[in-house]
Amino acid sequence: MSAHRHSTDCHDGARSVSRPLNFSLKWFEEVLSTSDVARELAKSGAAEGTVVVAGRQSAGRGRFSSPWFSPEGGLYFTLVLRPEIPAGQSHLLAVAAGLAVADAIELAIGASPQLKWPNDIYLSGKKVAGVLTETELSDQRVRLALVGIGVNVERPDSGVPDHLQGSAVWLSELGAASPTELLTGVLGSFVVWYQRLKCGDFAAMVESYNRRGLLVGRHVEVKSANQVVAGRCRGVNAQCALVIEQARGFTTAIAEGEVCSWS
Ligand code: BTN
Repeated sequence: MSAHRHSTDCHDGARSVSRPLNFSLKWFEEVLSTSDVARELAKSGAAEGTVVVAGRQSAGRGRFSSPWFSPEGGLYFTLVLRPEIPAGQSHLLAVAAGLAVADAIELAIGASPQLKWPNDIYLSGKKVAGVLTETELSDQRVRLALVGIGVNVERPDSGVPDHLQGSAVWLSELGAASPTELLTGVLGSFVVWYQRLKCGDFAAMVESYNRRGLLVGRHVEVKSANQVVAGRCRGVNAQCALVIEQARGFTTAIAEGEVCSWS
């Protein structure tokens, strides 16, 4: 695949800040984890837009150090970004990535994915893709972000681990898509969401996120800072924090946490 060039211009009246996002793809047949390779490349100065893609991963990892099943036939890549956004907005990188993956899947197979806060992508009530973002901060700015994305594309003939039976889905079960086609779609859409994020235009992200929100209107239990908050999910607020309505209409916004159950 050839490199793509997209503008991430921010138009602010007469002022225009131009930072082109040049994608430069580095493809590997097998790696331990594309995020590890991306980190090494970033340490040696790899530019924003470097994309490390692998045909399979032998030690793919997900959030909370869980393993990420990465056989041949899936899409596994990590994007190197140097966004310079405030540290408090770093979680929005994963939101932008989740929206881009959902857009690309919808374009490829016509089905409409949902987003489970904070950044799991679901189809037919099962997880089809995930995002793992690792950041390096200094002076309260995000200097480096490694946005790792894994998508279940071809269900492997050799079978899937027991813990994924019933909770994961592969695109091949619902339509026909190739990892390469999907990668092109994700990168094309990510450019747009990333531009909005960098320009501080969060409204479209929030609207799109809530439109795809798997948890909206459901009863949820969310673990955050060693406590569990339970209540009805009212979607995400302007900062993409999860809004939970507890008893007597009292609401709490959770910026970081993990949904332990929903019904
Ligand atoms: C999750 O849902 O827990 C996040 C999964 C992220 C998996 C991707 S695959 C490409 C990149 N390399 C990794 O080792 N992990 C991410």
